[in-house]
Amino acid sequence: MTLTLLQLQPLTPALLDAALELDQLCFGGLWTRDGYQRELDSSSSHFLVLNAVEPAGEAEADTSSSPTKSGLLVGLGCFWSILEEAHITILGVHPQYQSQGLGQLLLYALLRDACHGKLEWATLEVRPSNQAALALYRKFGFKEAGRRRRYYKDTDEDALILWCSGLQTPEFQGVLANCRQLLGDRLALYGWQLSEDWDVPHVTS
Ligand SMILES: CC(C)(COP(=O)(O)OP(=O)(O)OC[C@H]1O[C@@H](n2cnc3c(N)ncnc32)[C@H](O)[C@@H]1OP(=O)(O)O)[C@@H](O)C(=O)NCCC(=O)NCCS
Repeated sequence: MTLTLLQLQPLTPALLDAALELDQLCFGGLWTRDGYQRELDSSSSHFLVLNAVEPAGEAEADTSSSPTKSGLLVGLGCFWSILEEAHITILGVHPQYQSQGLGQLLLYALLRDACHGKLEWATLEVRPSNQAALALYRKFGFKEAGRRRRYYKDTDEDALILWCSGLQTPEFQGVLANCRQLLGDRLALYGWQLSEDWDVPHVTS
């Protein structure tokens, strides 16, 4: 099987269009172009994307949802760094490539970078009905810490507030190490190959 290269990198202005397209596919349009531009401009925002690149020599993909030589954005994730907190604001994987380990890879990378930036805890809001996301966050030790009533305007749904403390503890470093060890094999099963520099932390500004 030929493996598709996965590049994990910060969002750049050149990727804005692709990020907007992916946002539409994952969330039906959560953030506007201005919203993404604000993330690029903000020194508190730590925004990572996953770019899938077809290896040289392969036939060029023939659908808009297939990786190409110049790359297809298949995942995005962001946290805001607020004092000692990493507030995860967005996490999404291209619908065609969900349940293959990409969400786990992105969350791993966000939390790794939060640790690297000396942050102490992570938090986020999630819909109680979003079982896939809840299961993913629980794998990393996120626990329910409260609710925001009628937080989601489209459905009037509450938000669950999830919390993961002790990012700098040996226990949490163990969670990350365990995840790091399993990720490569899991992704390879679905035809993904991580780029050599995938586990180099991106510095929070
Ligand atoms: C939530 C989301 C990011 C998960 O990404 P993903 O790439 O599909 O998830 P992964 O394949 O990495 O799975 C990681 C873990 O998440 C959980 N999970 C993923 N998909 C699941 C599903 N359909 N049902 C139940 N659990 C699921 C599992 O615990 C899984 O681990 P396992 O496969 O070892 O059991 C993705 O489904 C998504 O983009 N959803 C739409 C946007 C969204 O809701 N984002 C979250 C907002 S808070």
